[in-house]
Amino acid sequence: MRTIDWDNKKNSIIMIDQTLLPGEYRVIECSTIESLCEAIKSLRVRGAPALGAAGGFGIALAAFKSSASSLEGLMKDIESAGKTIIATRPTAVNLSWGVNRVIRSVEDARNIKEARMFALDESKAIADEDVKKNKQLGEYGASLLDDGDTVMTHCNAGKLACVDWGTALGVIRSARAEGKDIRVISCETRPLNQGSRITTWELMEDKIPVTLITDSMSGHVMRKGMVDKVIVGADRITQDAVFNKIGTYTHSVIAKEHEIPFYVAAPVSTFDFEHLEEEIEIELRKPDELKYFGNHQIAPLSVEVYNPAFDATPMENVSAIITENGVFYPPFLLEEVKIRV
Ligand code: MRU
Repeated sequence: MRTIDWDNKKNSIIMIDQTLLPGEYRVIECSTIESLCEAIKSLRVRGAPALGAAGGFGIALAAFKSSASSLEGLMKDIESAGKTIIATRPTAVNLSWGVNRVIRSVEDARNIKEARMFALDESKAIADEDVKKNKQLGEYGASLLDDGDTVMTHCNAGKLACVDWGTALGVIRSARAEGKDIRVISCETRPLNQGSRITTWELMEDKIPVTLITDSMSGHVMRKGMVDKVIVGADRITQDAVFNKIGTYTHSVIAKEHEIPFYVAAPVSTFDFEHLEEEIEIELRKPDELKYFGNHQIAPLSVEVYNPAFDATPMENVSAIITENGVFYPPFLLEEVKIRV
């Protein structure tokens, strides 16, 4: 199934629980805003485009679960749900984009039934478009890869970070669909190991050759000439920086040092050219993520911990940004990114 979807029979959200991978593949249901928010906070659903879909479906869920007897009451309920959902994770811009897009779609509704229908149609459209955009983006990005390339990636920007196909891994899937022999080096992505748990799992499911390394090995493999290109996803692209999983910036610096192209693959919904890096809140996660590995304690419990979930890579380290509207090279201009196809 897709990473996240709508259950038409139950009018609830279903998703693959990514915290259980690779040990267990389980589909869970979120039938309340509380359970959806818990799923987002604990990364059962994660990755910027998947969060966009989660935000959209969350508003549809709020519309269906609202007990309001008037349209005004329902609008209040969905706006309040939207605020709660957006507050779960502050950095990935797609979450608020998905929430706001579905709220806007309800504004012309004349009654509660219509509001529910509009919200559901729009959230399903977000999910369907995500798949189409990723495939388009994948095709554009594939032109940057040569037969025989080894691509290093960080975190998971694959089908599990999206509704399907993926952004960074979507480019690799598209290049392989064209018959190119592409291999992947996946960084484990401490502390929550999206690289080792999810990226390797989904690539192996698709029989795409992948080698797992620790994050701290990226300098070594790039210096050894084992990496031809780096492709990562993004959680937010401001005028001056690309926000992505913590560790991405380090890889970009090493790639620049070794003249290895550093590509970012992201849909236009990830762009936030109204803001600068310094204005963006980077999500700080719980110290326990560094003090425990699963249930196993790996640090003194009283040690001070700094655990940002994302970092910012300055644009001068980015060789190109791959979107569904084409491939963009520096300087990255918003108007061009929005319009050019
Ligand atoms: O904390 P996560 O797992 O949601 O972080 C995800 C990432 O950083 C991805 O690289 C990013 O969202 C791009 S997904 C196509």
